Amino acid sequence: MAIASPSSSLHSLHRSSLFAKCPRLFRNSRFPPRLRFSPSICATSAIALQPDLKSERNQTLEGDLFSCPICYEPLIRKGPPGLNLQAIYRSGFKCRKCDKTYSSKDNYLDLTVIAGLKDYTEVKPASTELFRSPFVSFLYERGWRQNFSRSGFPGPDEEFQMAQEYFKTVEGGLLVDVSCGSGLFSRKFAKSGTYSGVIALDFSENMLRQSYDFIKKDDTILTSNLALVRADVSRLPFASGSVDAVHAGAAIHCWPSPSNAVAEISRILRSGGVFVGTTFLRYTSSTPLIGRVLRQRILQSYSYLTEEEIEDVCTSCGLTNYTSKVEQSFIMFSAQKP
Ligand SMILES: C[S@@+](CC[C@H](N)C(=O)[O-])C[C@H]1O[C@@H](n2cnc3c(N)ncnc32)[C@H](O)[C@@H]1O
Repeated sequence: MAIASPSSSLHSLHRSSLFAKCPRLFRNSRFPPRLRFSPSICATSAIALQPDLKSERNQTLEGDLFSCPICYEPLIRKGPPGLNLQAIYRSGFKCRKCDKTYSSKDNYLDLTVIAGLKDYTEVKPASTELFRSPFVSFLYERGWRQNFSRSGFPGPDEEFQMAQEYFKTVEGGLLVDVSCGSGLFSRKFAKSGTYSGVIALDFSENMLRQSYDFIKKDDTILTSNLALVRADVSRLPFASGSVDAVHAGAAIHCWPSPSNAVAEISRILRSGGVFVGTTFLRYTSSTPLIGRVLRQRILQSYSYLTEEEIEDVCTSCGLTNYTSKVEQSFIMFSAQKP
């Protein structure tokens, strides 16, 4: 989708401004947006964009929640307002600084650095590539995920309730479900009505297509403030300090660099924002030495961490109030942006 360039500089519009300008963004939310940026910035942006808006009936051109994955400048958006699937699908996004456009494909918005590239194909490590397969994406909620219970995962309903407890202090905020897979938890977060918006984000195109197939079966979710976004966890398309909650279910062990990913998560969280993650531990304190050595060898293409390593990474990325619950190889942990 082509986007008209604004004639002068565009700055970030804060969410309360969006609420005033486009209340439909928060139509399905019980919560008003939080104030975060200075009103003067918003006024400047609105004035700068006036000329472009004149000929655009029923269209908006606005700063949005999304940032360019290359330079992190807020993306200019042209299209209907809102964070629901239909509004995002019909919108085009552009980075004024990089002069790069981003649009939706198959119902998800592609905000990867490689979006739209013609000649370059990125091949990620096996732990990422595996989930790009249509076969694995199809099977994921049809048996694959259920197997996690053998390692101590309590199951999606209980994991969701546990995560909701950790997210109590950020209710009403924007939640990003990083590495959402087929959207198992994103759908639960969206349906709960607890958040002003939910962004289901994954690198796998097929997982996102599968997410859409599940979402469209439930009208309440389909029309909620839920967006599907393709992005790399090491390059999150959000401004620093713009997100209230980040969830990453069963994901850290699949990330090419857990430390880069947690650094990104820490960057996008606002002060007081909460990160909740689950993963398989490499071993626990009760695993015998021989078991530790074997697991280390067998699982080397994945980033299975120990409890200590997870806490270390979170802390070194500036997160505090680290807590965790462990059951066999399953760990759910939370950490907060000070
Ligand atoms: C085991 S699935 C977890 C799905 C879901 N969150 C859950 O709790 O069941 C791991 C997900 O991590 C995603 N992933 C792997 N590498 C990624 C990356 N670099 N950026 C974003 N997501 C990635 C995969 O595509 C896959 O969907």
